[in-house]
Amino acid sequence: MRISLSTIPLPELDVDLLIYPVVQESLDEVLVSLAPYLTAPPERIRDEFKGELAQTFFFYPEGLSAARVLLLGLGASDELTPERLRRSMAPAAGIVMEKRTDTVAIVFPTLPVDEETAGQAMVEGFMLSTYRFEKYKTEQSTTFEGPGRLVLHVEGKQQAARRGAERGRIIAEATRFARDLVNLSPHEKSAQDLARYAQQSAKKYGYYAEVWDRERIEKEGMGGLLAVNRGSVDPPTFTILEWQPENAVNSNPVVLVGKGVVFDTGGLDLKPPQYMEKMKTDMAGAAAVIGTMEAVARLKLPVHVVGLIPATDNRPGEKAYVPGEVIRMHSGATVEVLNTDAEGRLILADALSYARTYDPELVIDLATLTGAQVVALGRLAAAFMTNNHGDAEKRTETFVALGEKTGDRVAPLPMYEEYKDLLKSDIADLKNVGNREAGAITAAKFLEHFTDYPWVHLDIAGPSYLDQPFHYRPKGATGFGVRLLVEFLRTLK
Ligand code: BES
Ligand code: ZN
Ligand code: ZN
Repeated sequence: MRISLSTIPLPELDVDLLIYPVVQESLDEVLVSLAPYLTAPPERIRDEFKGELAQTFFFYPEGLSAARVLLLGLGASDELTPERLRRSMAPAAGIVMEKRTDTVAIVFPTLPVDEETAGQAMVEGFMLSTYRFEKYKTEQSTTFEGPGRLVLHVEGKQQAARRGAERGRIIAEATRFARDLVNLSPHEKSAQDLARYAQQSAKKYGYYAEVWDRERIEKEGMGGLLAVNRGSVDPPTFTILEWQPENAVNSNPVVLVGKGVVFDTGGLDLKPPQYMEKMKTDMAGAAAVIGTMEAVARLKLPVHVVGLIPATDNRPGEKAYVPGEVIRMHSGATVEVLNTDAEGRLILADALSYARTYDPELVIDLATLTGAQVVALGRLAAAFMTNNHGDAEKRTETFVALGEKTGDRVAPLPMYEEYKDLLKSDIADLKNVGNREAGAITAAKFLEHFTDYPWVHLDIAGPSYLDQPFHYRPKGATGFGVRLLVEFLRTLK
């Protein structure tokens, strides 16, 4: 999708569809300015369209170069937020996709939000809403990849709007890329495939990538990753991504860790069918890390960032790891594996203990880690947990606020010390599962054992995938995390 700014007089804007976002308070003003082009009296429109959030009104104008006009309600001006702006784009995008509209313009509304933020939010909202995954649809005629051109019609602060729109485009494209990786069929998504997709992205956008094979992983002693991989016919990979610009504001890197279980059958503790169905999405954390690295490099953010992706599938097999088995982790700790379906924490623990070698300022892991997270918080937010290195309270506050701002919401769960006791093993340093209670937290307590630096854990099992569309998130993979992380890195000082 090409995006441009335009200042030519509105009547001359030659597009298939003109989207006209309207805050409630300025409805009268807008109708007056549109009056010469209306085929019906403005009162008729006002009867049907009040500018309420998500309300739309469609008409064929007279005397405009644009073929059609869509009024889009933004609700009350004092309640407008970037998230509302993003969400408001979804109904417009729905019409664009349904009518297969090729060229679209959005009239930049007068808003209580600054132009840069507004430009970014509208472009994100539009580009994320028009996302479809149709790679495997045979009937090419049924697929429409979205409009070829999006024009922002700006009268006010053009530079700011342009900056915002450009950033929004890059971030939306990175999020769409993360969605693609998650939606991809497992047959094109071995651990090696996933590593290759990351390498290709790195090559294209000029950041560093290195992929470790099984032999190297063995040499590093990543016993968790190797144990999970043992039932597989495909080798594991460990991918290291890095963006280190000369003008980095941080002297110690921020390390991002993404769970890359490319398919989770549960292993010998096999999942029942209804739980296994969606398990191609068990690498959504890895996808978010790859998408974030791509956006960071394209935006040339002045931050030193490292991405780590332990990847494998988790299957039963002749050599599969078994319940009761004790494994030795990268950190040297021993773990009694009592459930082979709690595999994510095993591969993440190795990545987390390896992350120490970077002397990181902060490590953030993203993982579709527990069904308990979905039970606790549903699809609207990730679970946020953190350890006590540095200022945990401030970190929590920062992430909750960024979550609200970006729409990638996070909700904190408590890391009570007592829950660590649920992971005591009779024969090893710890076991990989607690009981059924507080499952999202015990998983985090397990990971915490492998950290000795400021650390944030985001359990994204719920928000990474939707069965029903939700505003600018179509059903399927959401790309959750990319926008949250990019915003975090962007505001790092
Ligand atoms: N990948 C799953 C968690 C998951 C569940 C992700 C639902 C997305 C949607 C994870 O590996 C898993 O199986 N966790 C177990 C842990 C349990 C055995 C302690 C779970 O949550 O049931
Ligand atoms: Zn599992
Ligand atoms: Zn899993």
